[in-house]
Amino acid sequence: DWTMEAYRDQAIAAIREQVGDAHVICGLSGGVDSSVAAVLIHEAIGDQLTCVFVDHGLLRKGEAEEVVTMFRDHYNMALIHADERDLFLGQLDGVSDPEQKRKTIGKLFIDVFQKHADTIPNAKFLAQGTLYPDVIESVSFAGGPSVTIKSHHNVGGLPEKMGLKLVEPLRELFKDEVRALGAELGLPKHFIGRHPFPGPGLAIRCPGEITREKLEILREADAVYIDQIRKHGLYDEIWQAFVAILPVRTVGVMGDGRTYDFACALRAVTSVDGMTADYYPFSHDFLGETATRIINEVPGINRVTYDITSKPPGTIEWE
Ligand code: XMP
Repeated sequence: DWTMEAYRDQAIAAIREQVGDAHVICGLSGGVDSSVAAVLIHEAIGDQLTCVFVDHGLLRKGEAEEVVTMFRDHYNMALIHADERDLFLGQLDGVSDPEQKRKTIGKLFIDVFQKHADTIPNAKFLAQGTLYPDVIESVSFAGGPSVTIKSHHNVGGLPEKMGLKLVEPLRELFKDEVRALGAELGLPKHFIGRHPFPGPGLAIRCPGEITREKLEILREADAVYIDQIRKHGLYDEIWQAFVAILPVRTVGVMGDGRTYDFACALRAVTSVDGMTADYYPFSHDFLGETATRIINEVPGINRVTYDITSKPPGTIEWE
């Protein structure tokens, strides 16, 4: 696709022009967007780039290892793996309001980036994988009045005191274009095809208070659900699929005994750009089999529901 090739060359020239001989810090989340941004910037400026991958304790099962291995070992990029699980989970303790969660996480990300930027000589820029829909959705909602639906922590600029300027090379692109650019840059196919994962991570899939116990249960349930989707060959048909753990325990029966465990909700949607979405029409067989597997394989969950809300009126994430 020579159009994407032209876009890539133009983007590389623009990055070189913007940053000159300064150093760039790139927040790497492991998602497609920040990964494509990092590889693009790496092509443009090589070792003037340092990536910071923040483990906020809100990642999926195995995610930190996967991301670090890919970027450090296969791309040979300077990568700081910041284990900040205690910091984030500590500050989120007792927080149940969705916007409060987003704001807390956004602020801590900035603090962590700043801490590392301070140790890197000539660090003058912070790069992010902000996409066009992120920019739009944080100011208005598809044709409706101009209201903030959710604070995307990666939109809206940086605090003045930070003294870093933003580099956002994907700001004009939609998701499918980012994937095409990623392919152009040679990122592995399975990586480019990954479902979107939000910056605030599992925090917004855990309505109510976040606890380590709930996060652990959520990670296990999500891994089983995604495994089911892959085994049935449905992963690429779905825009995004995940489990949300509900802030409620329900009564069940297992063998001879009574259980009193968490309920969870499965979410899967089709979408073109994340701005609108339809729930995915799984077969009842698939849903039944998946519920059985989750309840048998994940201690702590004894009830599984399927979320059949489209967007609008729902959003894709639960918070
Ligand atoms: P919603 O839930 O608003 O999500 O329908 C639309 C798309 O955006 C993702 N999302 C985020 N991505 N930071 C991100 O990087 C965020 O704060 C954020 N909130 C939602 C969501 O996963 C979906 O793909």
